[in-house]
Amino acid sequence: MTLKTETADTDAAKSFDLLNVPDEYFENPYPYFRLLRDADPAHWNSDGSVLLTRYADVRQVWRDISGEVFKGEQFGQRFGEGPLLEHHTSTMLFRDPPDHDRLRNIVNPFFSQASIQSVRGFIEETVEKYLDVVAEKRDIDFVSDFAFRLPVAVICKLIGVPVEDADYIQGVGRKVLFPLNPAVPAEVIAEGHDATAEFKSYLRPFLEKRQRSSDIDPMSDVLSAMVAAQRNGVTVSDDEILHMCIVTLNGGHETTTNLISQSIHYLLDDPEAMAQMRNGDVPVNVAIEELVRFITPLQLQGRRVTRDIELDSGNGTIPKGTEVIICQASANRDDRVFDNPEKLNLARKPNNHMGFGAGIHVCIGRPLARLEASVAVPAVLRRFKTIERTGPAHFNHNTRFRGLADLPLRLA
Ligand code: HEM
Repeated sequence: MTLKTETADTDAAKSFDLLNVPDEYFENPYPYFRLLRDADPAHWNSDGSVLLTRYADVRQVWRDISGEVFKGEQFGQRFGEGPLLEHHTSTMLFRDPPDHDRLRNIVNPFFSQASIQSVRGFIEETVEKYLDVVAEKRDIDFVSDFAFRLPVAVICKLIGVPVEDADYIQGVGRKVLFPLNPAVPAEVIAEGHDATAEFKSYLRPFLEKRQRSSDIDPMSDVLSAMVAAQRNGVTVSDDEILHMCIVTLNGGHETTTNLISQSIHYLLDDPEAMAQMRNGDVPVNVAIEELVRFITPLQLQGRRVTRDIELDSGNGTIPKGTEVIICQASANRDDRVFDNPEKLNLARKPNNHMGFGAGIHVCIGRPLARLEASVAVPAVLRRFKTIERTGPAHFNHNTRFRGLADLPLRLA
């Protein structure tokens, strides 16, 4: 697709193909989203799915409880039988009620706003520890040297495995996640199967240890919460527990890394917002919500509609059985809802963004993500009075998890 003007261009919008986006899309997808919102808001993709880009339509489909996420048949064709297929059909992320609710209800109390505060001390200590390391180096890649480290360490603690294993489990976790991208080669799928099997073998002794223990605290970690539920007669298999740990890692680390690294990236581009953040002119929780809206680390989601859906916005009817791609990244920049949406406005209120989703699958880890970012971003600015770029930052070629591959900085 060639972007000719900033005004609606129906032909250009109709020729957009999410399965084959140009390189510029990865650097900046927002002009494409604006074009689609204005000229083709219910856009048919080449594979027969529909891409929704307006806030009202995204919200409607996301909140519609008749929408389904289970993809047994589709994933079966793509992955073939094996551990990878088992994983992506066993977690709450890809299951519909009642199984979704059964699994989510077990861990819900553990992820609540109140209980997640118990890891605040750990997060603060971990942030300071990694800042000590980067302060020594001065010239760093902010993504690999800092932003990637915190979320994985926190998730190790949350799952109930040694924090020292963070690098290892991050590596295995990514191989489980990567095959979800469109058009991946066969070896990536084979690696995904092996990595899922390996991850399960790694986690199993930690599970069995808790199952042998007579005294477990369900609020101490995810494994303990799930073993306690098993003991209390809730139907949950050992495999479902292991897959819950893997989805917690994969749901929580890449997204939070991308939020923290892009927060610094976009603040560097915007001296006014940077000064506001440094001076604490805006309450940190308000500023973080705006960063989530502006960045939207998880950009796309899928739903299969199980009935004809007439879009409230008047943008047409989606026939029953259609795979819908929800583009929350576009919804969060929709000027029908947000005033001057392309501007990072840390004080923005109201800010009903959908960066964490909507409906029954709304992000269970959002209190944790908010907490991590609200500790980490101000701590970086407090520690380093000067933060300079030493080269251009690059974005990953990933349409779902938009994130920086690197962010070279000099800190002083
Ligand atoms: C900035 C960081 C994060 C963003 C932007 C984000 C975004 C999202 C979104 C949009 C969904 C909805 C998926 C759907 O509707 O299909 C979701 C679900 C989920 N998130 Fe997050 N997330 C973040 C951090 C976390 C963290 C820290 C964790 C765990 C520690 C986590 C675990 C999950 C899980 C397990 C689900 C599935 C919930 C369900 O299916 O009921 N996320 N997340």
